[in-house]
Amino acid sequence: MFSAKEIKQFKKTKTPFYYYQLDVLEKNLKRIQKESKKYNYHVHYALKANCNNKILKLIQNEGFGADCVSGNEILKAKEMGFKSKEIAFAGVGKSDEEISIGLDNNIFSFNSESLQELEVINKLAKGKGKIAPISLRINPNVNAKTHHYITTGLEENKFGINMWEMEDVLKYLQTAENLNLIGLHFHIGSQINDLSVFKGLCLRVNEIQEWFYSRKIIVEHINVGGGLGVDYENPDNSAFPDFKAFFKIFDDFLELQENQKLHFELGRSVVASSASLITKVLYIKKSTNTNFAIIDAGMTELLRPALYNAYHKIETLTSTKELKRYDIVGPICESSDSFAKSLMLPEIIRGDIIAIRTTGAYGEVMSLNYNLRDKVIAFYNNKQVK
Ligand code: LLP
Repeated sequence: MFSAKEIKQFKKTKTPFYYYQLDVLEKNLKRIQKESKKYNYHVHYALKANCNNKILKLIQNEGFGADCVSGNEILKAKEMGFKSKEIAFAGVGKSDEEISIGLDNNIFSFNSESLQELEVINKLAKGKGKIAPISLRINPNVNAKTHHYITTGLEENKFGINMWEMEDVLKYLQTAENLNLIGLHFHIGSQINDLSVFKGLCLRVNEIQEWFYSRKIIVEHINVGGGLGVDYENPDNSAFPDFKAFFKIFDDFLELQENQKLHFELGRSVVASSASLITKVLYIKKSTNTNFAIIDAGMTELLRPALYNAYHKIETLTSTKELKRYDIVGPICESSDSFAKSLMLPEIIRGDIIAIRTTGAYGEVMSLNYNLRDKVIAFYNNKQVK
């Protein structure tokens, strides 16, 4: 929801742009911290969801750790003040240079995805006279029941080490002098709204831990990744995911050993509700069954609808006329550059302002330069960021 003052400001501003509501973000961060600290859980923010400096600074100020998937994300996290000992580094294809960045910065954990990667980390750590802290990313073969492009925890997905390879991995770890096994890591997918999926993950992690206990291995850290979904349908009424219920599931169903610490890597649920993509209508083009509203934002500014057929609520901010049917499309030379089909909206004309909601996660950060588009800009509501 936007105030009349904000809408007036949008009319005067060059579009498209991401509009961040930092008060929404801050409220959400406080809720996450309140609910996770009840159980002494550690939350690492997944930088991949949004790397905007102001956003990162706010998240860092609230005491979150960081979850990085590239050398550059590690460097960015450091630059924004995240502590090395709170940086986890995941990713199925870490390059030698990126592993070196992790080693040079003495990060908390390398979430390792294969035996071959362990060999490379060991070699590079040896060269630097360091011991690399390792969490094994395990593919738990749990179905996240979400979009298949963002499902990661099934054996058919490229992520993680399968349990049938684990004996070989443990054998190798016994000989690898520059690796120290500190944890087990899991991440099964994103935009998961069925909380029973997380219960299933807990039960599977319990089974996997039993397997390790029977080999006399108790790791210090368990990391269950991210994945909590958000409500894209109701941006105003449910801007805050149910973190209370989410963390309680892990307390209820995950069996931790004494002194074992539980970590999360949340991305979307932290930042999604804090931004909208603000755009103007360029042209209206009539068609037989619909009207095309061509807006000045495209898949280059928000890729999710084109890539995953993702839904984002679209609102007209400057018209209260009668409803008409529209296909909302962008200016890019691709037919998939479309945000909504056959949508009923108050009649719009050239110059009307449209808000595409819940775009704080995987929005600005996935923007493209395709068609040599300008880099998308960001504005913030009045709140001062320390
Ligand atoms: N940890 C790992 C290892 C991950 O791969 C991811 C996300 C996360 C944590 C954070 O997950 P989240 O809490 O945000 O669900 N671009 C897609 C989402 C890709 C998610 C990739 N991995 C989208 O726009 O829906």
